Amino acid sequence: MDKLLITGGTKLDGELRISGAKNSALIILTSSLLSNEPVTICNVPHLHDITTMIELLGCMGVEMVIDEKRNIEVHANTIKQFTAPYELVKTMRASFLVLGPMLAHYGQAEVSLPGGCAIGPRPVDQHLQGLTAMGADIYMEDGYVKASVKGRLKGAHILFDVKTVGGTEHIMMSATLAEGRTVMENCAREPEIVDLADCLISMGADIEGQGTDTIVVNGVEELKGCRHRVIPDRVETGTFLIAVAATGGHVKLKDAQPDHLEAVLLKLADAGAEISCGKDWIELDMKGRKPKAVSLVTSPYPAFPTDLQAQIMAMNCIAEGSATVTETVFENRFMHIHEMNRMGARIKLEANSTTAYVEGVELLKGAPVMANDLRASVSLVIAGLVAEGNTIVDRIYHIDRGYEQIEEKLQLLGANVKRIAA
Ligand code: EPZ
Repeated sequence: MDKLLITGGTKLDGELRISGAKNSALIILTSSLLSNEPVTICNVPHLHDITTMIELLGCMGVEMVIDEKRNIEVHANTIKQFTAPYELVKTMRASFLVLGPMLAHYGQAEVSLPGGCAIGPRPVDQHLQGLTAMGADIYMEDGYVKASVKGRLKGAHILFDVKTVGGTEHIMMSATLAEGRTVMENCAREPEIVDLADCLISMGADIEGQGTDTIVVNGVEELKGCRHRVIPDRVETGTFLIAVAATGGHVKLKDAQPDHLEAVLLKLADAGAEISCGKDWIELDMKGRKPKAVSLVTSPYPAFPTDLQAQIMAMNCIAEGSATVTETVFENRFMHIHEMNRMGARIKLEANSTTAYVEGVELLKGAPVMANDLRASVSLVIAGLVAEGNTIVDRIYHIDRGYEQIEEKLQLLGANVKRIAA
């Protein structure tokens, strides 16, 4: 397994282009199954998760054409079978969301239950309750969800028990081909949901309210093809902003979307960063200063995103002062703490608590570390950037799932980082 070798102590400085959003590209790939015509998706990041999704669609018989710019043209009408196998779904949970589109378009689907992952059990009860409310006949067998519907799904009134990004996306996609109106309440409001809705609307879907907590979908008979450019990756953007802030450096991020990161930019300003933004760029300058520690609570969008919690924790480790970081979205998303403490951080986490107390220290000490989820892994890279000496981050296949060419992008900012092939 590849590792990253990082030698800390450099203030990052430079310019980067942000890639397309992983969590938007993945869901838009599943939505192509709703159409009888080719759907072309542009600005797709070159990531392991995307490759897995392409492999999944391919194993169902869906033909795809990928051009030199990695634009993916999906011909879903070539689909041969309606089963998503455990081997692929277990490695990438978003695969589960092929269920609704196949059900809505072809009336049948068999998809492996995704199972839990390092950050929590991640149930899909809200997805299944919504599809059942729309008339799907669903049962479990051998770890698979087996679903069918006679004729079309029916529009329904759906009130989510929790704000779920995947649940909102799953039901919104499925409702586009249902008979009648679907009203969804207590929806998640993430930008990736709005991007998916924009793509579905360009395919001929009738959707209103995306980005608010109430979405209304009037079903149509069929969806056409389209060409859609995926939004910038707000988590990659936030990750690089936090990494530069932690090192006291300066960066200009291009092809970014500042309005998707309001909560993050406010926290970085509180940490002492000078931030300026344009329509598609963000500039951050720490003027060589150490960041001030910032306290935060993760919550559904537009609040501070859980996907940037581990990264800001790494910044707080060497910040001036102390702070609290509270994780409210996932049950087990503090695994990076033990690894950071092995590097000399002072983070306390009471048993069964959702709040960590971080006391900033002068410097961390490089060490061999590893993590089991992609955002925790990248937070250890940030810790390595602000540590004295060498840090080796193991199991970086987690990072390759969510960050395109991470070492090249960090090297562009002057970081002393290299990939060690195992
Ligand atoms: C999406 O996961 C993202 N993944 C995650 O990013 C992100 O952390 C998460 O949203 C929250 O923002 C993709 O978009 C592919 P949820 P998702 O359903 O949809 C509970 C990354 O690093 N819940 O919003 O799976 C669930 O247990 C990944 O890129 C139910 O109880 O997240 C969790 O506590 C990690 N029942 C909360 O809701 C359900 O049926 C939020 O989960 C569904 C969810």
